[in-house]
Amino acid sequence: MGRITVFLQHKMNQPKRYLITSALPYANGPKHIGHLAGAYLPADVYVRYLRAQQRDVVYVCGSDEHGAAITIQAMKEKTTPKEIVDKYHALLQSNMQDLGISFDIYHRTSSPIHHETAQEFFTALNEKGDLELKETEQYYDEEAKTFLADRYIIGTCPVCSNTNAFGDQCEKCGTSLSPEQLINPRSTLSGNPPSKKTTTHWYLPLNKHEDFLRKWILEEHQSDWKANVLGQCKSWLDNGLQPRAVTRDLDWGVPVPVKDAIGKVLYVWFDAPIGYISATKQWAIDHQKDWRPYWEDKETKLVHFIGKDNIVFHCIIFPVMLQLHGNILPENVPSNEFMNLEGDKMSTSRGWSIEMDEYIQDFVKKENGGDMLVDALRYYLIAIAPETKDSEFTWKGFQDSVNSELVAIFGNFVNRTFVLMHKLCNGKVPPLHNNLLDEKDNALLRDMASAKANVEANLEGYKFRDALFEVIDLARKGNKYMQEKEPWIVAKNIGADGMPTPEAQQKIDNCLHLCLQLTANLAILINPFLPFSAKKMCHMMKVVDKMLDWENAGKANLLKVGYSLRAPELLFRKIEDAEVTAQIEKLKNKSKHIMDTTPTPSTDASTTASTIKETIQFDDFAKIDLKTGTIVSAEKVEKADKLLKLEVDLGFETRTIVSGIALHFEPAAIIGQKVVVVTNLAPRKMRGIESNGMILMAENPDGKLHFINGDALVANGASVS
Ligand code: MF3
Ligand code: ZN
Repeated sequence: MGRITVFLQHKMNQPKRYLITSALPYANGPKHIGHLAGAYLPADVYVRYLRAQQRDVVYVCGSDEHGAAITIQAMKEKTTPKEIVDKYHALLQSNMQDLGISFDIYHRTSSPIHHETAQEFFTALNEKGDLELKETEQYYDEEAKTFLADRYIIGTCPVCSNTNAFGDQCEKCGTSLSPEQLINPRSTLSGNPPSKKTTTHWYLPLNKHEDFLRKWILEEHQSDWKANVLGQCKSWLDNGLQPRAVTRDLDWGVPVPVKDAIGKVLYVWFDAPIGYISATKQWAIDHQKDWRPYWEDKETKLVHFIGKDNIVFHCIIFPVMLQLHGNILPENVPSNEFMNLEGDKMSTSRGWSIEMDEYIQDFVKKENGGDMLVDALRYYLIAIAPETKDSEFTWKGFQDSVNSELVAIFGNFVNRTFVLMHKLCNGKVPPLHNNLLDEKDNALLRDMASAKANVEANLEGYKFRDALFEVIDLARKGNKYMQEKEPWIVAKNIGADGMPTPEAQQKIDNCLHLCLQLTANLAILINPFLPFSAKKMCHMMKVVDKMLDWENAGKANLLKVGYSLRAPELLFRKIEDAEVTAQIEKLKNKSKHIMDTTPTPSTDASTTASTIKETIQFDDFAKIDLKTGTIVSAEKVEKADKLLKLEVDLGFETRTIVSGIALHFEPAAIIGQKVVVVTNLAPRKMRGIESNGMILMAENPDGKLHFINGDALVANGASVS
């Protein structure tokens, strides 16, 4: 009786339905595995778990096909925005499918239904008076005769002095900017400094909604949202919200549905999240369903999976839009931090990345049964998911994780169980002899039941790493159990007929019966994470996919006694040293190639007056202490392919300086090189090494680096001025 009540309550607290979203990726190029780990994989695991519970869930995503990200790529590839989005939409869709991301729909924001939905949304807000019309001065390119979207303006970052910061963000230091903050702005279209011209735009007055946001985020969700998400929201709110323009002067995007708003489109960050709604609509049409409850009924649990650069849009701006429009709000926005790669930030444009497509070509498509390598990648990415802080993908880490956990623990347990069942139990599920159950057997049964609860609690709390760890831990317990029970030794107790004695056989039966039930449990629990492997396990156990229903987890009677099972199949394979070396080599070559061949934006836009930094006074210059020196030793910094650790003889002392030039120079080749050093730069730790100064380098327009080295006769330690 008591149990039934608890069960019902649990069911009653469950949301009626779920709408799960992953950030719509820009269709401006391939996406890397950091994106996969951040916004797609965790959502997919969550959704597969919900589906295994037969819950009503729709998982939507699609390509973000508007904005300057697209038009700029079109310029780069010398083609039209339409061609760009068609090409990359197809690529992204197929990559996601190959990696087992199980969207219910992968839509696109260039579709008519999306344009209509976004326009309807804008009109509704505009007619209610929720938007403000404002006239402002904006950057304009006289030569190209066009207003310049933020991304079309580059200039010097006021924070870190990067000379190629964009009008919306400096990609070097991550600061988000407005074009007005850039020092020496210039247009990426003509390279000229832009002029200013008045224009009219619609604004969303976020400042009017601060109270609502504070209450909703910082009070209602302060205990269930992740700390990294709450932290960012709090800092936005504390800094005071400003009205945000929701339209742009551009010719690519959703046209502003107002008469006379010629040449104006909705800002991409206004229309893109509405893409979640239009994707739901399209899904509903395709499946004869009603989309409305998913966005209007409070009993829907809406969850946005994103990376940390999207937090403000999903936690502040879009919720204000949804609220004004009368939609439900997200219940949670479990954003991830970033995943770095081999000691550096992952970046497609710098070539320091593993694109999803590359992994698919190099591993998945290369061999028969390559699906097991999809699961291998999914495994490692979840095991190191950047849930609370940035994490790091290394090929060696991938290899270790796959070989010592997936292969040696999970795969090994399942394989041993099947091999022994064939050898000692005629290939059939042996009976369980209850009278012989001992403490070890009971402990295993308890572990099975508690694993379900633990995995569940972690998944409900968006702790995918911990959830996965629980599953592997259960397999580890299975191995230990098998090792302690040693059925292969028990089998040596033979009678006169040469067969194990009846008592020995009963012990063997019990061990393998339980190991097989555990295998079935492992299949259910691993299914959200590694769906291809779970499927394969079902095949081996000759059960239908229905067995993977979540409610079956924790049960010890999933496989029927006497049922004959198939031969074991290889679930995972080892990653070889040679593969690791080849991938690291490939990564270095790719990034070096890109750095050598891609002109930086500054060289696109002629290197004249426009790239000279702001005027400084002599006193400012005099603060910099420059001295000559000689590099006396140089070595690579472990796990950081771009860094060299240098010892520089300055005459009066020898200094350690860490320099990011490793992709340009072999350490041995620069020993004895004369250099100019900034000697009074504040020390900085890089990869655990304290760097005391900076070597001056010059970068040619072709991207090649050269030392600034004066006359070889100048003594080390001479002042440079
Ligand atoms: N395209 C954006 C990005 O890659 C994400 C858009 S998410 C959405 O950062 F909500 F706007 F769809
Ligand atoms: Zn910066």
